[in-house]
Amino acid sequence: MSTKEKVFQSQFKEGAYPFYEELRQDNPIFKMSEVHNQTTWMVTRYSDVKELLKTPSFLKDFSKLYPNEDEENVEQTIFSNMMLDLDPPDHTRLRKLVTPYFNPKTISRLSPRIDEIAKELIENMKNKQGPVDLIDEFAFPLPIIVISELLGVPPEDRNSFRKWSNTIVSASEGEHPQFSQDVKDFVAYLDDLFERRRTDPKDDLISNLIQAEEEGEQLSRNELYSMVVLLIIAGHETTVNLIANTIYALLQHPDQFNRLKEDHSLIESAIEEGLRYYSPVDFSTARWVEDDREFHGTTLKQGDVIFASLSSANRDEQKFENACSFDITRPNNQHVAFGFGIHFCLGAPLARLEGKIAIQHLLTACPNLKLAPYTTPTWRKMFLLRGLEQLNVTL
Ligand code: HEM
Repeated sequence: MSTKEKVFQSQFKEGAYPFYEELRQDNPIFKMSEVHNQTTWMVTRYSDVKELLKTPSFLKDFSKLYPNEDEENVEQTIFSNMMLDLDPPDHTRLRKLVTPYFNPKTISRLSPRIDEIAKELIENMKNKQGPVDLIDEFAFPLPIIVISELLGVPPEDRNSFRKWSNTIVSASEGEHPQFSQDVKDFVAYLDDLFERRRTDPKDDLISNLIQAEEEGEQLSRNELYSMVVLLIIAGHETTVNLIANTIYALLQHPDQFNRLKEDHSLIESAIEEGLRYYSPVDFSTARWVEDDREFHGTTLKQGDVIFASLSSANRDEQKFENACSFDITRPNNQHVAFGFGIHFCLGAPLARLEGKIAIQHLLTACPNLKLAPYTTPTWRKMFLLRGLEQLNVTL
């Protein structure tokens, strides 16, 4: 089995950190697989990861190397125009359009509503008997409600939305039988929603983006689909993992957990440490080598694929003292959990705010939170993301 296949297995996630450590020492630009003369690489050192993510000749837009001559189908419509998969100038234009909605000041206005959502979910959990799955009951619904409200998806459509976004996320991680049908349904739904917002605009992101589409050449219809889909995918599973992984790390380290319970002012640095220690996004998305080149002693060929291991970079001893310790007071925590360079996570202020509010409320409402007896959480079988299957706890 090639390493690329192995990284899809949950056992790989369990043993990934010692493996990354070996790679950082002996084989920092690691060949994951070679298929039809195209090599896939994994970069593991902190400094190399940053260099990779800021170098323009590691392309995001692979159609520059492999132009697609097929007629565009509905799946390409929503995926091929995502700014995460584009380079400047298109990336710059699209990012500029949405940046104002995600800056820390704008995002901070959502605090009262996130408070309410967190409190309500915790109340529902507390009404249940016995252990609860913190992911199903809390970490999962919270970000999907927040992103749906931010975009302007009506509450009654949230369940279908969740189903489609699940299909799309899992499809990007391997095959999914329902994929084509779900994508068609999703696009039909978006068409209808866009139409409703066009005729009756509300104070939400979709209405604002539709206006940008109407007001000129700023955003095409396909870019609008892609932007909405990107925001759902990027803003959803990742934040679930931030909340659940950080709680898991706290439960595994009772000294740190107690410290945080005693001093809530450590919440922000605890979130940063959660992001570093169990990074919700294990790998960056792919970069493509524009021309044959050397990269720290390794020869890369045009068209090769490279992934940055953010998790590995975040445990690099050359950058972080006691990198494998979980320390919620860690100073100067310059992790790369949100990436680096021009594609640095747009939603970082929102993710941080959601994580902070979620965990703070949980600590206050459930100070005796513990892992449920006889359960060992396991990591989901996913490549790009690091998230738990379940997190069964007693409150
Ligand atoms: C803890 C939660 C999150 C983590 C760890 C995370 C991580 C990341 C990372 C690593 C990237 C860069 C990927 C690459 O360069 O290949 C990224 C990009 C992005 N993220 Fe996040 N993200 C989170 C939450 C969010 C949220 C809540 C949103 C929005 C609602 C969001 C929207 C985006 C967007 C739009 C991009 C693409 C930016 C661009 O191409 O310029 N993310 N994120």
